[in-house]
Amino acid sequence: MLNLDRIIIEFDKGLRTLFSEAHSVRPHPDEGVMEAPLDESEKKRSAALMRVNHSGEICAQALYQGQALTAKDPVVQKKLKQAAAEETEHLAWTAHRVHELGGHLSVLNPLWYTGSLALGAFAGLIGDKWNLGFLSETEQQVGAHLQSHLEKLPAEDEKSRAIVSQMYTDEIGHSEMAMALGGAVLPAPAKMLMKINGRVMTKTAYRI
Ligand SMILES: [Fe+2]
Ligand SMILES: [Fe+2]
Repeated sequence: MLNLDRIIIEFDKGLRTLFSEAHSVRPHPDEGVMEAPLDESEKKRSAALMRVNHSGEICAQALYQGQALTAKDPVVQKKLKQAAAEETEHLAWTAHRVHELGGHLSVLNPLWYTGSLALGAFAGLIGDKWNLGFLSETEQQVGAHLQSHLEKLPAEDEKSRAIVSQMYTDEIGHSEMAMALGGAVLPAPAKMLMKINGRVMTKTAYRI
């Protein structure tokens, strides 16, 4: 049941996601990894790719928050909360790495956030089975996207690679968790729509 208190709490979380620094309980995966001597164009490429990943994590925050607002089963709510905590760590790792590379975060993050929050809330409203199926498919697509980044990142940029690799492991874990909780396999057109949506976001966030 939606109530004003929950909406205010989630609104506050949204503001914090967008405007304050995220923190990680686990050590950053690139802690202790040596910085490679990247040239300017490599640095720029890495920063742009990590900016895309940061925007993806902004979306993940909003999706999980939207779902937490509307998911009905308390067990599902608890599991979503646990996964969301890992997503907050991803947010911290990617933001830190973008800044380390001399890059900036996407100026469109408030837009990505709002769109994903609405999507998450909608998925939560159509019932836990579809909500979890949607979550699982999202995490699968994010996993595939992260794999493609491992090919695109400069080979020597071991720091960014360490972050992306750990995120990949976590996202696949989230996908499996959602299916284990009773997620349904989405119809192919829904998966396709989600892929198109993801492509628009990644292409735009790469530039701005
Ligand atoms: Fe993530
Ligand atoms: Fe995830």
